Amino acid sequence: MSTEHPRYAHITGWGRYAPDGVLTNADLERMVDTSDEWIRTRTGIRERRVAAAHETTASMAAVAARRAIAVAGLEPDDIDVILLATLTPDYWMPSTAALVKEAIGNTRAFAMDVAAACSGFVYAYSAGQAYITSGMARNVLVIGAELLTRFLDYTDRNTCILFGDGAGAVVLSAADEPGGGLGIELTTEPQGAYMIWLPAGGAKSPPSEATVKRGEHYIRMEGKETYRFATRTLASTALAAVARAGLDPSDIDLFIPHQANVRIIKAVADGLGLPMDKMFVNLDRYGNTSAASIPIALAEAVDSGRVKVGDRIVIVAFGAGFTSGAAAILWTADPARGALAETIRPEDITVRLPVDWDSVDPIPAALAEILARPVVPGVELNLDDVAPGDPDPAPKHEEVHA
Ligand code: ACO
Repeated sequence: MSTEHPRYAHITGWGRYAPDGVLTNADLERMVDTSDEWIRTRTGIRERRVAAAHETTASMAAVAARRAIAVAGLEPDDIDVILLATLTPDYWMPSTAALVKEAIGNTRAFAMDVAAACSGFVYAYSAGQAYITSGMARNVLVIGAELLTRFLDYTDRNTCILFGDGAGAVVLSAADEPGGGLGIELTTEPQGAYMIWLPAGGAKSPPSEATVKRGEHYIRMEGKETYRFATRTLASTALAAVARAGLDPSDIDLFIPHQANVRIIKAVADGLGLPMDKMFVNLDRYGNTSAASIPIALAEAVDSGRVKVGDRIVIVAFGAGFTSGAAAILWTADPARGALAETIRPEDITVRLPVDWDSVDPIPAALAEILARPVVPGVELNLDDVAPGDPDPAPKHEEVHA
């Protein structure tokens, strides 16, 4: 390892992967007592992606990672550290990051998972920057990857409508010129520990027939409390990161918030006194992909021309824990390099499977029919029909157009 202490960690590569399977609001109408109208107006989500049976968190992560490495103009072996943020690892052990290291063809890096739920990518990003600026690494791969659709109760309308699958990644590279993360803020508030949680499967409540019967291997959530935490914390965390960078919110060209609910994002924009066009939103097509949501959104924002060299962007997330994290970032990479991601094809990347081991069918019964049908193209989000504000009381449509 180098003993130099570079001052900055620039984002030099970015990549994303979303599985082809699409679960629409109309599909969910057939599973639980909900409606497309309710989901759209209360969350902004129209559809989410679902991983196929052969896909795993590691396989999606590896594709996004190889794309980010190609965009950075590096070889897999140039990576010194692999940090993978996820709450849906392939196994309890080994880490999903270790499987990704092998799948991308890296022989040198140390690799580990980062557990901070939806804030995981920002936490891993900050750790990656710290490895670089402490001189321990020159190139760090930071991934957010989730396969949430296998941990959802498709009889619980409070949760199953929200989440989807996918992966995103960035490469951070050492530099002496200013760029990359200029201000970072991370918070953990354990009083919210049981507001979003997965009760069983861990040491406190190991898997058993009883935990399966009681449905304790699915994500549970107190939506209203989580909403309140999110609207309060996202704005304050973003503000703290911006202030640490010596900037003002009006200096920021684009905010890339965690994609949980468009009403939360609107409340944050209002809180910061900023118009919605400063907020990147793509949750209409992916739902909440937890730790993957920010790196997917970041890569989409750059590839769609929303970010240019010299822009100041803010990534900001909240999640189970309760956790939150934000980074104010000076963008230095040529967005046109994003086209290099297309050189990486998912079918060329494999995650090694265990020998003599037959896994059970991983697809939830409720999703089997949906995954069997041909892929339907996505739809664009019209934000006009989405109501912002607190979830309690009922949404006030007139506020949207104020
Ligand atoms: N379809 C129809 N009705 C529904 C649905 C649904 N899918 N879900 C809930 N409802 C009902 C409720 O039962 C309730 O009915 P009631 O008044 O008869 O009891 C009514 O709709 C209103 O429910 P609320 O919970 O008040 O709805 P709200 O406006 O709060 O929206 C939501 C719920 C979308 C979950 C919102 O609270 C939210 O987004 N919370 C944040 C969730 C989040 O971001 N979680 C991810 C955290 S990240 C991580 O780390 C995993």
